[in-house]
Amino acid sequence: MAQLLGHDLSSSKKIDQFVEQAVQEVVQISSKIEGVRPPHSELIAPAKQTMDSVEKLRGRPLFYPYIGTGIGRGPYVELEDGSVKLDLINGIGIHLMGHSHPRVLKAAMKGSLKDILMQGHLQPNMEYVEFSKKITELASRKSRLKYAWLTTCGTMANENALKISRQKNTPARMMLSLKNAFAGRSTMMAELTDNTAYKQGLPDYNEVLRVPFYDVKNPKQSSEEALRVVKEHVAKHEKNISVFAFEPMLGEGGYTWAPREFFVPIFEFLKEKKIAIWADEVQTFSRTGELFAYETLEIGQYIDICTIAKTAQLAVTLYTEEYNPQPGLIAGTFASSTPSLAAGIEILDILTKEDYFGPSGKISKIHKNFVSMLNELNETSCKGLLRDAGGLGLMVAVTPLDGSKDKVMNLLKVLFNNGLMSFGCGKDPFRIRFLIPAVMEEKDIQVAKRIIEKSILECCK
Ligand SMILES: Cc1ncc(COP(=O)(O)O)c(C=O)c1O
Repeated sequence: MAQLLGHDLSSSKKIDQFVEQAVQEVVQISSKIEGVRPPHSELIAPAKQTMDSVEKLRGRPLFYPYIGTGIGRGPYVELEDGSVKLDLINGIGIHLMGHSHPRVLKAAMKGSLKDILMQGHLQPNMEYVEFSKKITELASRKSRLKYAWLTTCGTMANENALKISRQKNTPARMMLSLKNAFAGRSTMMAELTDNTAYKQGLPDYNEVLRVPFYDVKNPKQSSEEALRVVKEHVAKHEKNISVFAFEPMLGEGGYTWAPREFFVPIFEFLKEKKIAIWADEVQTFSRTGELFAYETLEIGQYIDICTIAKTAQLAVTLYTEEYNPQPGLIAGTFASSTPSLAAGIEILDILTKEDYFGPSGKISKIHKNFVSMLNELNETSCKGLLRDAGGLGLMVAVTPLDGSKDKVMNLLKVLFNNGLMSFGCGKDPFRIRFLIPAVMEEKDIQVAKRIIEKSILECCK
């Protein structure tokens, strides 16, 4: 439309050149990052001061002594103390394409030159339309999901999902959710989350009914038990359950996943009872080997509502025709920022047009190589100290040392000091999880190997 009027920002040659030059400069500067390096002696003290000031500003210290300089390259990121880390947590799942990906940078930069930085639902621009079109097309390939409502974070997308299911099944109050689930940090999502440490001092609303998850060591029995518990809850709370909320693969809960056979009998039963099935794919989206984990697990036909965030650079609640809510139920000032929308569109484009998905896609190869590397260490120099390596796609976890929280927390810090960023998940055992960027190469896996080996051996001294 703007083109017809003779003033389209997207096709301005001058803007293209300007953006191209700026991104080339970033690529040039970030190419100096060759790999992991230790802090610079002269930068340690000023960086520490900055970190201390963060503690003063927000009332508690950072988990890691991490302030980024804004410079990174692929899986590597530079910090204010001059060190470079191998980033295998990428902001807990945001930077799927790694740091300073030229195409993502260009898209975001072009987005930042539009008339507004934040888009809302009342006055959207074309990026809002384009993103919604793209994500609904992709989501509906193997599911009945038809509509997308954009928002800013996973928690808010989840709030919308819960409201949608409650409105449709009103006046049902209760929710079914998995043991060890994580759903976000709002009042209701803290309720849905199965971790007392995240709701200290909050009142209990007693609206969540827990279902045990799949146990890979006991597949048949754990599947039967989960179905039995679902049936028991439904019998006890007939017509008072609005939704079954589940992560296709537990994120914070320990990076364990269940096959299709676990979910299908539960879903068939829930369908009979007209209870909504909501897949929380905030963490799994784009990581499990297909774009959606419901595609990887082949359960798309059952899904009524699906939430995504992180990699998408914004958050989305996707829902079927049947679950399209009445006007007024979900809204909010912000839909997303224009740079985020533009970057999100670009990331979807890269993911779906290049060779990332499927059994021989890049994600599957990274998974196999990374897990083999952990298993090799577990069988050789770190014998028995890196157990049960596994997961799906770019979500990999391992149980190190004795799996106790204290020892693994200490290992996380040792890994960080040695140049590798990861994070914990689960309880009994407490595990290390890696959210591996999709741009990880074999030589980077070898860097990870050396650091993990060194750190494990250091912890056992
Ligand atoms: C499965 C799941 N749901 C919801 C959330 C909350 O998303 P956000 O932190 O963007 O609000 C997360 C975040 O880690 C998550 O992993």
